[in-house]
Amino acid sequence: MLQNKNVSAVGITSDAKISHHAKQLSKQLQLLRERLFPPSSEKALKTFSSGEAAQLVGVSDGYLRQLSLDGKGPAPDISQTGRRSYTLGQIHELRQHMAAIKPKDALTYLPWRKHGEKLQTIAVANFKGGSAKTTTSIYLAQYLVLQGYRVLAVDLDPQASLTSMLGVQPEFDLAEGDTLYGAIRYDDKRRPLRDIIRKTYFTGLDLVPGNLELMEFEHETPRALIERKTAQGEIFFKRVGSAIAEVEADYDVVIIDCPPQLGYLTLGAVCAATSLLITIHPQMVDVASMSQFLLMTSDLLSVVRKAGGDLNHDFIRYVITRHEPFDGPQGQIVALLRSLFREEVLAATVVKSTAIADAGLTKQTLYEIERGQVRRTTYDRAIESLDAVNGEILESMKIAWGRV
Ligand SMILES: Nc1ncnc2c1ncn2[C@@H]1O[C@H](COP(=O)(O)OP(=O)(O)OP(=O)(O)O)[C@@H](O)[C@H]1O
Ligand SMILES: [Mg+2]
Repeated sequence: MLQNKNVSAVGITSDAKISHHAKQLSKQLQLLRERLFPPSSEKALKTFSSGEAAQLVGVSDGYLRQLSLDGKGPAPDISQTGRRSYTLGQIHELRQHMAAIKPKDALTYLPWRKHGEKLQTIAVANFKGGSAKTTTSIYLAQYLVLQGYRVLAVDLDPQASLTSMLGVQPEFDLAEGDTLYGAIRYDDKRRPLRDIIRKTYFTGLDLVPGNLELMEFEHETPRALIERKTAQGEIFFKRVGSAIAEVEADYDVVIIDCPPQLGYLTLGAVCAATSLLITIHPQMVDVASMSQFLLMTSDLLSVVRKAGGDLNHDFIRYVITRHEPFDGPQGQIVALLRSLFREEVLAATVVKSTAIADAGLTKQTLYEIERGQVRRTTYDRAIESLDAVNGEILESMKIAWGRV
């Protein structure tokens, strides 16, 4: 007798049930989204006061005022009370303007990499879930944009937290091939990375979004490895790097937010990277699993290297995140890490802060919100620690460029 293949003896089979749940959930989420975010409500960035703009560009507020009075450079928005404010795009224009009128100091105003300074590709990794990879990636990316660099953020995590932080809804806004998978897939639907990259509301920060589609790469690679014996095609660990190479001239820095596992995507990112950031939440359980992570990584990487993977990194840095400086046990772990890895552990740490966690809930960073939105001391403490960490990473990049 023919039986409906979705119905077992005890009723509906689990695959059919889960598929039904997925469809129900997707439909409801779509409705919810339409209510909360009507199509016209795109994520927008605050404007910057002229004081903030002046500080970012590296001129005095008075100079900026004079510039706008003389009608030179971008025209700020002027409120009824006379307060001048600039968009992030205008701050970039100010940099261009200053570099043009003061060519001797061009590099301080417009620090783009020069001929001979190679693209910095930074992979942020650790297979420990929740070790602040995404938070580290987005804060670093935004910091570098605010400092005047051209930055591409790549979301390599199928969970796509970075993508949604940057204003793209991974469930709804992406069609097939709109993630990095589109540029690294093995079949003939592969497309140029340039067509996948999106501008974001954070002007100067571009995004290669992620979503569940990225999992396809983990599934397809074993098959491709078997078929490779007969077919030509680039091996898995070179694909991320090759895709990035297509757009290399457009950026100074590429930041790759890796998934919390050591799959083919992460290995591809590590091979594409010129440097690695390993995020650490300094707690015994996390650090114990990190030692496993390092062992497994080194085993896998040595196989990849023997097969022709490029594993020369300009720097590897451990970033201590969610740090509670007054917590005794955490202090011991941080001291242990510093004694073992010395200057490879960044001197600055990202403190655990309700300001960072709360801003994250509304898919914002502290670089995006107005200072007055959070208690001032909390905000200042968090920003200070983030700036210090990001500043150290920038310093390592400059060393790699031979600037210092
Ligand atoms: N310095 C911090 N202070 C307070 N909360 C933080 C801090 N850094 C990260 N968090 C919070 O910790 C959680 C995990 O952070 P995040 O998503 O960056 O980790 P992850 O390593 O990317 O996680 P996953 O492995 O799932 O990708 C988030 O809710 C984030 O807001
Ligand atoms: Mg993450």
